[in-house]
Amino acid sequence: MDFQHISPLELQENASKIIGKDYMLVTAGTKEKSNCLTASWGGLGFMWNKPVACIVIRPQRYTKEFIDRENYFTLSFFDNSFKDMFAFCGSKSGRDVDKIKECKLTPFVTPNGSIAYEQARIVLECKKLYAAPFIKEGFIETQLLQNYTAGDFHVQYLAEITDCLIK
Ligand SMILES: Cc1cc2nc3c(=O)[nH]c(=O)nc-3n(C[C@H](O)[C@H](O)[C@H](O)COP(=O)(O)O)c2cc1C
Repeated sequence: MDFQHISPLELQENASKIIGKDYMLVTAGTKEKSNCLTASWGGLGFMWNKPVACIVIRPQRYTKEFIDRENYFTLSFFDNSFKDMFAFCGSKSGRDVDKIKECKLTPFVTPNGSIAYEQARIVLECKKLYAAPFIKEGFIETQLLQNYTAGDFHVQYLAEITDCLIK
């Protein structure tokens, strides 16, 4: 595997772009069973004196069961040739298909036992620190509640970036 380990503080990327425009796979689980989804909302930053990642996951996602069960999850970033994979993993549920197999991804185990893919160009291993659902009363810009007509408020996860692998 041709990844190098760097400090999250050395990552030279525009977080808004690599998450919001390029997309990422959020993966959780173990070597025996894992699941992933495409995500384009979230962030990278610094909290509680730690480099952190933020993701937001709707309650109905199968991946959420894995995120909630494990202490770690990963964020995997790919080059532009993986658009079809993001469309597939963002529209199919792991309840119905084996996304890793269908997308011919090669999983590997990260230092703290989470799962990421050899095809990625950047992998962030993340340790959960805080999780809570958005609440209606918290929305100052109430138009944003249009995102939640079904009441399915995202759960926000803040997680320490415990490893950064880059090609
Ligand atoms: C571009 C794109 C971005 C997405 N971003 C998110 C996200 O940030 N959070 C989320 O919960 N779902 C997001 N989704 C939806 C999930 O990827 C999708 O529902 C997926 O099929 C869930 O799979 P699962 O049931 O196996 O977890 C996104 C989908 C697409 C296509």
